[in-house]
Amino acid sequence: MRSAQLRASFLEFFRDRGHTVVPSAPLVPGNDPTLLFTNAGMVPFKEVFLGGEERGYQRAVSSQRCVRAGGKHNDLENVGYTARHHTFFEMLGNFSFGDYFKREAIEHAWRYLTEVITLPPERLWVTVYEEDDEAERIWLEEIGVDPQRFRRIGAHDNFWSMGDTGPCGPCSEIFYDHGPGVAGGPPGSPDQDGDRYIEVWNLVFMQYDRDVEGQLTPLPRPSIDTGMGLERLAAVVQGVHDNYETDLFVPLIDAAGEIAGVADRRSASLKVVADHIRACSFLIADGVLPATEGRGYVLRRIIRRAVRHGYQLGIDQPFFYRLVQPLEAVMGEAYPELPRRREFIEKILHQEERRFRETLEDGLELLDDYLSRTDRDCIDGEVVFKLYDTHGFPVDLTADIARERQLQVDYAGFEARMAEQRERARAASRFGSAREAVVDAGESRFTGYETLADQGQIISLYRDGTSVQRLSAGEEGMIVLDQTPFYAESGGQVGDRGELLAAGVRFVVTDTLKQGEAHGHLGRLEQGELSVGDVVSAQVDEQLRAATVRNHSATHLLHAALRESLGEHVQQKGSLVAPERLRFDYSHYEAPDEATLQTIERRVNEQIQANLPAEAEQMGFDEALDAGAVALFGEKYGDTVRVISLGGYSCELCGGTHVRRSGDIGLFKIVHETGIAGGVRRIEAVTGARAVAWAQQLDAQQRRLAQTLRISPENLEHKVAQLSERAREQEKEIERLKQKLATQTGRSLLDEVREIAGVRVLATAVEGGGKGLRDTVDQLKNQIGSGIVLLLATQGEKVQIVAGVTKDLTDRFSAGTLVNYVAEQLGGRGGGRADFAQAGGRNPQAVPDALESVAAWVAEQATD
Ligand code: SER
Repeated sequence: MRSAQLRASFLEFFRDRGHTVVPSAPLVPGNDPTLLFTNAGMVPFKEVFLGGEERGYQRAVSSQRCVRAGGKHNDLENVGYTARHHTFFEMLGNFSFGDYFKREAIEHAWRYLTEVITLPPERLWVTVYEEDDEAERIWLEEIGVDPQRFRRIGAHDNFWSMGDTGPCGPCSEIFYDHGPGVAGGPPGSPDQDGDRYIEVWNLVFMQYDRDVEGQLTPLPRPSIDTGMGLERLAAVVQGVHDNYETDLFVPLIDAAGEIAGVADRRSASLKVVADHIRACSFLIADGVLPATEGRGYVLRRIIRRAVRHGYQLGIDQPFFYRLVQPLEAVMGEAYPELPRRREFIEKILHQEERRFRETLEDGLELLDDYLSRTDRDCIDGEVVFKLYDTHGFPVDLTADIARERQLQVDYAGFEARMAEQRERARAASRFGSAREAVVDAGESRFTGYETLADQGQIISLYRDGTSVQRLSAGEEGMIVLDQTPFYAESGGQVGDRGELLAAGVRFVVTDTLKQGEAHGHLGRLEQGELSVGDVVSAQVDEQLRAATVRNHSATHLLHAALRESLGEHVQQKGSLVAPERLRFDYSHYEAPDEATLQTIERRVNEQIQANLPAEAEQMGFDEALDAGAVALFGEKYGDTVRVISLGGYSCELCGGTHVRRSGDIGLFKIVHETGIAGGVRRIEAVTGARAVAWAQQLDAQQRRLAQTLRISPENLEHKVAQLSERAREQEKEIERLKQKLATQTGRSLLDEVREIAGVRVLATAVEGGGKGLRDTVDQLKNQIGSGIVLLLATQGEKVQIVAGVTKDLTDRFSAGTLVNYVAEQLGGRGGGRADFAQAGGRNPQAVPDALESVAAWVAEQATD
């Protein structure tokens, strides 16, 4: 049976037994912040188990796509090293919500396995939770399982929970024995982790809800949740013991093998790549994009792990995206979202790989260099951190390399460096002490939507964050009024500035901050004295406020224009609205090109010229969403919300202050667009008088440039093009000359090529190492055509070892093995690929002997 048939037969078996067939939910669980990814078939039914949601059925069956990476259930690091671990898999499951319980669940499972797909009962082993007498009785007495193949197991394996909280319960597992030809022991034995006895089906008797404290509360109705990995089942049915040899994986491994030009399809790296393309494609299809934290970072880690393995296979071009099409051929029919989003998935993967390849090689070099200098069997935390911070190596990627080379990773040292970095970042962003939050400041009524000048009574006063009764002239502090027109910083809009005045009293407000429900006016009492209970006249700086509202309304127009031009996936990721400028961070997977940016800018200005009315309205949250208002994802809103609309063009939930009509904005000019993190971009723009000043400045600059070049401004573009063309030609010329020099040195080295066992070998010591040595090896490889090149360069006490093997010989000779062989003699180590590798040593005296030994190595490899 092929996997597609297995999937279908499972659904059909349970449909025939009164189960509703429910399609797979996305990998990102809707509305469940406790969970990173859908990691089991029961996840979409969580609320049904808990009794919080009713569906029209009490029995369900599904084939659910799942990811187990990065969360409570995390298999990432095992992928490639075992026959059955995956980051992405499909889980076949049947569910009962307070309908049938243990007996029927067990009976269904047994029948499906032994009658539908006709597995021999003597190959099946069963375990139950150690305290579950009832399940044991059903298995032994009613089903008649041989007690020889039956075990009671502790909570570690036989008590299942989705996450740290949520529904859970004891379980019973069914294992398949792949036979004595495969290593491993039965469940419960010390070598149970081998590949011989494989758990295929887990029946969970869902009975409890676990809360944050770990307390178990019985569920309203005991239920059933079962899960069987399609990949494992396919292996059993297709008579292989390695999931990667099933029809789900073979086409992917073949495709990757072909790209890499590797004939041996058992390579761990091929498995990794085949597994990871499934997880990454489906994650992207389900809306996850590579990012620096959260779900997006897990995706990035998986992509980068795959790319590194691709590199290890000798693939030196972006390749990962090329596997989406083969994946579609395997799974596209069962999961239509795959063909629908293929191009998008390819684009994201291509981009992420290109980006990572820019730093990957340098990172590996750094690691090799470090390893050539140390005797430790452990990669230092400092190095792990540098790889992470500078070269974009997620820690598990470094750990993966360490595992290949039998090294440990200094996690504690890495964590310490991370903590230091976090502390630095915190220190850099910490507010001055005046801005520190105070408690119970009271409550202020905000009147600043309608007016910029108002009366207010002082309800509390603070100096250095401490409540006081009075402020004297010259003192800095914070004043809270019962009512104020001063806007307090929130939603990206900065706090108002201005003055609080009374007879003989002047307090200059430099910022306004929210303190719970209160607006705190920060500043300095320039004149007079102020006490709690005093009434002051509060005057917002009108010009600054006017400039700020222009930028705030322009931000809304920009947001709408971005969604209009780039697509509805654009989400606000951050925003700063100040008098001088606006800054808007948004999610998008690539840099918009110049024409698109111009369209966006033009669309915003068109709305300004249309002089749209800005209207604020209070309404219910749901009503607002129905009206099409844009709400910020992950933001908390109250029951009633304020909705700002600008004509029909923009409609957003917002508590900020705005222009009366869009025409007040005057002019909108984007001054900067850039990427700030994976999938997040930033636009900076100016409006009103600032926009005019910006244009004037540009104009003046152009004139000055023209003067310097002694041409008229109209010819500027042409002249600059000419100059840069000339510079390019000169650079090329320099490059040509450099190459010529290098080849001349290379030429003379060619005289030293020897023939050993029919292979052309150049092994020699050279002057001057460094980065150039690598290019020299590449050139020599080209010149030799077919052969092995090994260059050793001594600098002080260190020896740099670089080796290359031409592609036609890499199935017999590996540069990686050669550098290790040589490095060992020189007291160092290193590693790399079959076609290129480098290492370091520390024993220059041993160089001549090491070079001598190469002939023996080549001869030995040649006869292997
Ligand atoms: N939730 C259980 C598991 O994932 C059974 O579906 O193993």
